[in-house]
Order: sequence, then C-alpha cells, then structure tokens
Amino acid sequence: MSDPIDDVLMEELDEVELSGHAEVKRGSALYYEPADTAFALKRLLWHEFELSRMTAGWMPAATVFETKTKLARLSYLHIRDMRMLNERIEELPGGLSAKERTPEPVRELYERAALAPDEASFFAGYELLFGALVKRYEALALHIDPVLDAPTGDILDIVLLKRKELAWIKEQARFAGNGTFAEWKPYVAELRGAIDGGFGELPDAPVWPAVPDAEPAGPVPIAASCDPRFPLYEHAATRKMYADPEASPLTGSVKQMHYINATEISAAENLAYMFYAIQGMPREFYYDLSRHMWDEARHSVMGVRRVKQLGFRTEDFRYYQGGPGHDADESWYADMYASLTMVAEPCSFLKKRKSAVAFRQFGDALSAAHVEFDMADEQMHVNFGKKWGPELFKTFKNDLVTAQEMAKKTRIRRLERFGLGEQEEADVLKNFPAFCGFTTTELQYDKY
Ligand SMILES: [Fe+2]
Ligand SMILES: [Fe+2]
Repeated sequence: MSDPIDDVLMEELDEVELSGHAEVKRGSALYYEPADTAFALKRLLWHEFELSRMTAGWMPAATVFETKTKLARLSYLHIRDMRMLNERIEELPGGLSAKERTPEPVRELYERAALAPDEASFFAGYELLFGALVKRYEALALHIDPVLDAPTGDILDIVLLKRKELAWIKEQARFAGNGTFAEWKPYVAELRGAIDGGFGELPDAPVWPAVPDAEPAGPVPIAASCDPRFPLYEHAATRKMYADPEASPLTGSVKQMHYINATEISAAENLAYMFYAIQGMPREFYYDLSRHMWDEARHSVMGVRRVKQLGFRTEDFRYYQGGPGHDADESWYADMYASLTMVAEPCSFLKKRKSAVAFRQFGDALSAAHVEFDMADEQMHVNFGKKWGPELFKTFKNDLVTAQEMAKKTRIRRLERFGLGEQEEADVLKNFPAFCGFTTTELQYDKY
C-alpha cells in the first residue's frame, strides 16, 4: 500500500514537472524571463521564513539541549537562505517591496502545523513541509536556464545543501519522546491540501481541516522546557547566580567564563520567543535577530563543550530558565531585547577582554580563542541592539527614543531593583564600567 502523504507530494511534483511551471509561472510556459524567476523565488522565500519561525518557536519547546541548539541552527539556515533569495529577487525586475509579508494563508498553514502535541509530531510535520519545499527547489533548479539565470542556479545549489538535514529531522520524528507521529503527519498533509501546498494561487478563505484533539506542546510554551542535565538555579533573581559558588564549581576562577557561556542557552531561547512573537518588522530585522539567536545557542554549545573538556558535567552547574514565564506582549520583548543588548552584552565586554588576556597568560590558548570569538559576535549583537531596539520601542511601546536614550532608560530600570539613592544612581549611570560592576559580576582574572 502506498503512503497517502507521499502520493500527495508525488502528485504535486508531477504537476510541477509535467505542466512545467504552471503554478510558479506568470506567463509563457517554456522559457523563464527574469520576472518569472523573481516571481517563483518570491513564492519560495515566504516558506523559508515560516519554516524559520516554526523551528525557532519549537526551540524552547524541545527538551534536549542538543535538539534546542540544532533547531536554532536550522532556524538560522532557513533565514540565511531566505536572505539569499531576497538578494537575488532584488536583482531582478519586480523585486520585493519592504512592506511585503508572508501571504496570510501560508503563514496560517505553518502556524497551524506548529501547534503539535509533542516533539515527534512537530518533527513529522516539519519534515513534510520542508521536504515539499525541497521538491519545489529541485523542480525550479531544473527549469531555469543554466546560462541566462546562472546566479539563481548558484543560489539554489546552496539552498539545497540543507536538504541533508531532513535525515536528522526524520530521525527526531521517529524517536523523540512518545510522539503521536501517526496522527499529526496526515493532518499537516491536509493543512497543505487546504491551500494546494501554498506555492500557487492562494484561496482567500481556506477551509482548514479540523484540529486534532490534542493539547499543543509548542511553539513557544509559557516557559522553556528544561533539559534535566541542566538543573535550574532556584534562588531569587536578586541573588547573583554568577557569583554564587553553589551555582558553579568554577566560581573564583577565570574559567567561570565558560560556565557563563554554557548558560547562554536561555538567552538564545528568549530571542527565539521574540522571533516567533514579534510580527510585522522589516525582513532585515529577522535576518539580524536569527543570527543573534543562533550565536547565543553556539555560545552555550561552546561553553558546555569547554566545561566538559575541563572535567565537569553540565549537572555540576545551575542555569536560568528561558522564556517570559507568563503571557508576554511585544512591549515585554522590546524591554528584554534592550536589556540584553544595552546592559548584558556591552557589560560582558569588560569581563571578556580581561579574561582573554588572562587565559593567554595562563597558556590556555583555546579558552582565549573562545572569548575572542565571543567578543566578535557580541560586538555585532550590540550593533543590532542599537539598530533595532529604538524601532521596537517605537512600534511596540509607542516610545520614540534614540539608541542612547533607550540605553539610558534600560540602565535606569536595571538599577531600580537595587534601591540606590538618587545621587548614587546618577553617579553609577555616568560611569559605564561602574554601572557594569554594580549590576553584573566581576571574575577573578588572576586565578586559573
Ligand atoms: Fe553570547
Ligand atoms: Fe550576544
């Protein structure tokens, strides 16, 4: 007996091959003019964007650390490829206006498919949607003219590199937890059917299939799901975790830096929530935010790798939980983003610069390289913050501020929790290193 889902895909692929490009084609059948390529790429681009959102949304919902970080990576790959398509479209007539967003039925397809009852189901749906996109790319790559439209061909070659990830995704669909894989994949196939796959003419009012009777486990649960190998820090937020010997056996050593890196998974998760929640911003914003999220996931991977190399287990340390922990609106995300990029990240430079020097003096070149790569990423993140923070304040808090004013407001809010007098608060604000010393923890650079 054939698999009905595969039949759906095969039919669709046949259609692409037999009728040439009936759906992705604007005009004549056989030869694409530049505007046809632009039109076809535009249809594909929004699917990359929605796959990126869907995987980011499931990153905090996944439990296993390696699954989280892989989803951050996949989300970034979808955005990286969207960006390449975007650049090519802009070289061609027709272009892509700044105001264009994912067509509503396509966005709804992915948002519905993302409401899976468990990880295995999510991955089964993801595999189906991503696999369908890959088939579209393959058909387009064979159709375009290899001389006239070679720049598009080169981009499709790169974009198609990520199809090898389907094997990993399929593996998750088979093995993650005790999933209801069998029910969810046909449902996602029906969702696709409601808009004919979402690559052609879109219905104004799609008739969506009935939602299976199961509580969604994602995307973006109220608080991030925690890997039991990463126990949470149980004390109040006012107690500084990075200065607490109960939270890390590396307290009092410059190697504490690696522990701090290991905890950055919660920063990556917070950015993943934001990526899913914030809608309607310019495409560039999502390109930057996705890179930021993936960088923080990489920083945690690098921290975890190093503490293990140094003979520790992740269970020897304590961690923050990602996510707002309550229903958060866009204004909450704007504040969180400003606090990350205007306080946490710039303050971390002071520590990182000193740590890099210390690691080199102690002859630990690998640890020094960790911190130096980290600083290069963080510099970029602070620049993202200066660029997008004021935009978020304007759009979601109705607050017109320059980057400088936003940074000041964010720092004042940070100091408020310490209950300083007016004069002391003003003094601390005037001196950035003093502010950082006050709000974050110094490391012991003279001890390895
Ligand atoms: Fe980081
Ligand atoms: Fe960062």
